[in-house]
Amino acid sequence: MQPLIKWPGGKSKEYEQIKNLIPKHSRYIEPFFGGGAIFFKLQPKKAIVNDICEELIEFYRFIQGKKNKIEFKNCLYDYVDNWEKIPKYINIFENEIIKLYNDYKCDKKNEKEVKKIITEKLKSKENQFNGLFFEKFALDPNNLLQEIIKNLISKITKIKKIELERGLLPDGDLHKNIETAFRSGFYMHFRNIMNKNTSKYKISLAKKISNYYFIREFCYASMFRFNAKGDFNIPYGGIAYNNKDFRSKVDYIFSDEVEKILKKTEILNTDFETILNRKDLTKKDFIFLDPPYDTDFSNYEKKSFDKKDQERLAKCLYKIKIPFILIIKKTPFIYNLYKNKKGINLTSFEKTYLYNVKGRNNRNVEHLVVYNF
Ligand SMILES: C[S@@+](CC[C@H](N)C(=O)[O-])C[C@H]1O[C@@H](n2cnc3c(N)ncnc32)[C@H](O)[C@@H]1O
Repeated sequence: MQPLIKWPGGKSKEYEQIKNLIPKHSRYIEPFFGGGAIFFKLQPKKAIVNDICEELIEFYRFIQGKKNKIEFKNCLYDYVDNWEKIPKYINIFENEIIKLYNDYKCDKKNEKEVKKIITEKLKSKENQFNGLFFEKFALDPNNLLQEIIKNLISKITKIKKIELERGLLPDGDLHKNIETAFRSGFYMHFRNIMNKNTSKYKISLAKKISNYYFIREFCYASMFRFNAKGDFNIPYGGIAYNNKDFRSKVDYIFSDEVEKILKKTEILNTDFETILNRKDLTKKDFIFLDPPYDTDFSNYEKKSFDKKDQERLAKCLYKIKIPFILIIKKTPFIYNLYKNKKGINLTSFEKTYLYNVKGRNNRNVEHLVVYNF
């Protein structure tokens, strides 16, 4: 089985490296669950999973059926339906935008005029975007419209610059760029909702978590990053995300196999130490640990995991008697925490990162596997 949500640091690829090491167990425990790649590969009969991220855990709890699953399902399919209808919405105004763009390109119209005309055109056609601008879905339809307009204009000015510098774009590229701008506006609107939802909009938990899920699926490279005000600020994933099969992913979330596996799983939202200190753990359990890395890059949900947390984790693991495997990026600090410790074994493997974050392309990283059996 595959993870249900895109999550940075997912360990699908590492499974091959550790699968032969995993001991027989009657219950699977994962204190840093995230997307739970190894859990979905192993499909344990019984499990306890945990993560400190509240929205993530609420998401799993909705799917598990502990909360109003029907309401959550309806909210999430509203995103799927409207996201799928975007090409239809674009059809309504695309020819006019292309004509406008051509006038702008040969300086028959300036940026201000372009903005005014696009705004008028979209506003006059608002009622044809059946469903998209319903308050129940958009929450703040005017902001949604403004975001779409803003993204369209910014795209058009960028394309003009590119065409002037490098010549005409290939046929079809203008269309793809208009679509990307529209989708990006849609995404930015709901990103604003996510950042402001508790203070500005009174929305149900089901809507909040479905919105969160949509943003996690469509943000660039499933990254986390927050500005000084604490707002999530990763942009839309871009042109490559336009044709993602969102519906299949959501169908999978609500499939019987997912329901079945989560039914037998205790899902918790606390600090890892509470899990590792549970009195009911036995030697028949197996603990898989995939904590954040020892770098400032791994700030999940604004809560950074610093050196003190790494030490706190190591201290728990020195004394724990239940079989565990921990995977973590090998840095001098981490290596020192675990080397030459009684009862603790180490091995390592290389991982190639395919992230295309500026200056961080395709690096090779060594991973340390720490285990106690
Ligand atoms: C590397 S990710 C886990 C990825 C996961 N194994 C997967 O396959 O997607 C680390 C996770 O630890 C969580 N986390 C950070 N601090 C934590 C803490 N103190 N206790 C529990 N979980 C924490 C983060 O929210 C994040 O989801």
